[in-house]
Amino acid sequence: MKVKFLDLGQQPIANNFLLPEQVDDEFKYHLTVEIDDGTKLVSLGEFVAPEKMFNDTYAYHSSGSKTMQEHFKKTAIALVNNFAPLKVLEIGSNDGVFIKNINSDIAIAVEPCSNFADLTNKMGYKTISEFWTLDLAKEIRSKHGAQDLIYAANCMCHIQNLSEAFAAVNECLSDRGVFVFEDPSLSKMIERCSYDQIYDEHAHIFSVTALNKILASQGLYIFRVEKLNVHGGSNRIFASKRLHKNIEANVDDIMKEEFNMGLEDIRTYNNFATRVEQSRVQLLGLLKEFKRKNFNIVGYGATSKSTTVFNYCGIDSSLIGYITDTTPTKQGKVSPGMHIPVVPREGNLNSVDYAYLGAWNYEAEIAEKESEFLRSGAFITHVPYVRIIR
Ligand code: TYD
Repeated sequence: MKVKFLDLGQQPIANNFLLPEQVDDEFKYHLTVEIDDGTKLVSLGEFVAPEKMFNDTYAYHSSGSKTMQEHFKKTAIALVNNFAPLKVLEIGSNDGVFIKNINSDIAIAVEPCSNFADLTNKMGYKTISEFWTLDLAKEIRSKHGAQDLIYAANCMCHIQNLSEAFAAVNECLSDRGVFVFEDPSLSKMIERCSYDQIYDEHAHIFSVTALNKILASQGLYIFRVEKLNVHGGSNRIFASKRLHKNIEANVDDIMKEEFNMGLEDIRTYNNFATRVEQSRVQLLGLLKEFKRKNFNIVGYGATSKSTTVFNYCGIDSSLIGYITDTTPTKQGKVSPGMHIPVVPREGNLNSVDYAYLGAWNYEAEIAEKESEFLRSGAFITHVPYVRIIR
């Protein structure tokens, strides 16, 4: 049985930045969140059709920050050193930020967004522009053989039918192979009240507890979990086909931690929903107070996360004049739902008093490069509570 615990209202596609002439027929859906009381998997109550989110205009570039470029380079080197794979498959390769660190002779990629698949194909990485399905896995296995390393970052949580997705991994993985994937962590989201991890693309927010059950049902077993700082706190899961790897002690430790913080108890989720509502009241209150005082407020980082916050809180361009973002394909467009203009960073923070940090997950990187702005201005964030960063 699924139990609904959070309602974030009508929402647009989080990454669908629009040209001003496209705003009239914008698609919206009802964003709610529920927990399956059997598997303990947390998922959206209503899924959006994948083609509406992942298509040839997909805007999010994984290479958009120095933090993530370094993260994926380090990851690729460590995985190759650790597991010495002869064949590597990446699911959801985006702009190639991970795969470009692997020898193209041994690597292939799957990426449904054709703008990115074209890019990595040109870089010399065979990229199949399709969604990850069991049929595709069978085709890859028969044409390219079983894979020793299957890697996916911020992708498995996008896939609505997880049983099929993991069965497809099992189909394609060699007997000695490892499946490594990383996605935002449910426990971190609850702890930090970062409800903006919830949007159309994140069909599920994973706990290790839920993954352990769902992977096992498809013949895959977790033998290691690494906690990562990226994307506001993620888990990197290592799984293999059989229990031929020693299960490391921390897998059980992390599941115990999750149990102790109440991730199997509906009251934890109801309490989270109350904190989310309080966060909304506080953020809106702060922005309105600053506006009354005639402060100039903008957004910094036109993230998917900020789409959830702005639409849930009702924050439009009367409160946040514009959003700066370094992604060229977002600039000149307006944000989904609230239609706040997106502009380049250059020259757009000069007379700003406060910038709402949509990209709060890069706080350290941004604070370092914006030290000049921080002399006179400040950032606002709602994570882990509504506060000012000076
Ligand atoms: P991210 O937080 O990774 O995103 P999402 O919530 O969409 O998953 O996205 C970061 C966004 O912020 C991306 O559009 C690039 C932008 N950005 C800046 O504008 N300046 C910066 O210094 C950084 C690090 C990111």
